[in-house]
Amino acid sequence: MEATPLLTPYKMGKFNLAHRVVLAPVTRCRSYENLAQPHNTLYYQQRAAPGVLLIAEASAVSETATGYPRVPGLWSDDQVEAWKPVVDAVHAKGAFFFCQLWHTGRNDHSPTTGTAEFDDGAPPRLETDEIPQMVTDFRVAARNAIRAGFDGVEIHAANGLLVNQFWFFLDIGRVDSSQPLRLDRHTTDGLSDGSSSSLENRCRRLAADVVAAVVDEVGAHRVGVRLSPFAGGDTDSTDAAEARALHLVRSMDRLGVLYCHVVEPRTRANGKKPAIPHRLSPFREAFRGTFIVNGGYDREEGDRAVSRGYADLVSYGRLFLANPDLPERFRKKAELNRYDRSTFYTSDPVVGYTDYPFLGQETQVA
Ligand SMILES: Cc1cc2nc3c(=O)[nH]c(=O)nc-3n(C[C@H](O)[C@H](O)[C@H](O)COP(=O)(O)O)c2cc1C
Repeated sequence: MEATPLLTPYKMGKFNLAHRVVLAPVTRCRSYENLAQPHNTLYYQQRAAPGVLLIAEASAVSETATGYPRVPGLWSDDQVEAWKPVVDAVHAKGAFFFCQLWHTGRNDHSPTTGTAEFDDGAPPRLETDEIPQMVTDFRVAARNAIRAGFDGVEIHAANGLLVNQFWFFLDIGRVDSSQPLRLDRHTTDGLSDGSSSSLENRCRRLAADVVAAVVDEVGAHRVGVRLSPFAGGDTDSTDAAEARALHLVRSMDRLGVLYCHVVEPRTRANGKKPAIPHRLSPFREAFRGTFIVNGGYDREEGDRAVSRGYADLVSYGRLFLANPDLPERFRKKAELNRYDRSTFYTSDPVVGYTDYPFLGQETQVA
C-alpha cells in the first residue's frame, strides 16, 4: 500500500503515535446523570487501536458547567470512577486517551428549568468573583482526569464555550468596565505590554490563566488546548478574535503546552469543496508543540495538510464518529459510512453511536 503522509508515525511528546489521524472530541449527550456509561467504553474501544490518539467528549468541570444534557462530568469521585473503565479499555487496546474539559459558560443550564432555556431568555450575568472559582474548577477537573487514568487533558477554549466566552461576555456587555473583575491578579498585575488597565487584556489574561492553572496542576506535557479563532461566539471582527487567540497561543507556547488543536471554518461555498485556507500559519509559527487541525477534513485534505507541514495531526469528528475504523479505511482508501446527523444528540445508548459498521460488515447504517 502506498504510504500517505497522514498515515506516517509521529511522536507527540512522549506519545508514539502510529499515524496522524486523531479522534476529535464529540459530545453525544448519553452520559446519564453526568456519568460515563458502559456504552462510552464500547464507543471508544471501537475506535481505539495501537498508537491512536483519541480525545474524549467534553467533560464538565463543575455542576454549573453542564450546558448540554447528559454530558459526563469530572468534578466528583463517582465521575472519576465512571471514567476509569472507559480509560482502561482504551489503554488495553494500546491507544492514547486525552479528556476534553469544558465549562459551557453562556450555554449553561438554568437552575429553574434544568435546560438551556432561561427565564429571561439569557443566562445570568457572569459574576466576576465566580471567575477564580472557574479557574479552580478546571484545575480540579484536570487532576481528576489524571486520577481516572487519562494520558492528559484538552482545555476546550473553542466554539463559544467558556474560556473564549470571557471575550464573548465582554462583547455582549455582561462583563463591562463599570464592573471591574474582582481578581487580584487580573486587576492589579501588569501585562508584559504594560496595558493591564484594559478590560480586554484582563479577559485575555483569564483564558491564559485557565491554561496556566491546568499546566501547573498536571504538567504541560499532558495539556492540550482547543481553539476556534475564526468562529464561535466572538461577535467582533475576525481580526480581533484572531489576535486574541494568537495571544493565547503565545502564552501556551511559553508554558510548553503539549498541543494546540485548532478548529477551522471550512464552509462550502457554492457546493465546492473548501481548500485548506492556510489561515492558521501564524498560529503554527507561534507554537512549537504539536499542531492539530480540525474542521471538514477528508483523507486527501488531511494528507495535504500534513505533507505541506501545515499541521502535524488532523482530527476527525463526524467521519471518525461514523467510521470506527477510520484510519484503516483511509489506509485502504475504502468507502466511508455516512454519518447520520439526526442521531447526533439523541439519548439512546446505541443508535448513531456504537452501531456504525466496521469495514467488511454492512456498508451503511440503516
Ligand atoms: C455531535 C457532535 C458533538 C461535538 N462535540 C464536541 C465537543 O464536545 N467538543 C468539541 O470541542 N467539539 C465538539 N464537536 C465539534 C467537533 O469536534 C469538530 O470540531 C467538528 O465536528 C468539525 O470537525 P469534522 O468536520 O471532522 O466533523 C462536536 C461535533 C459534533 C458533530
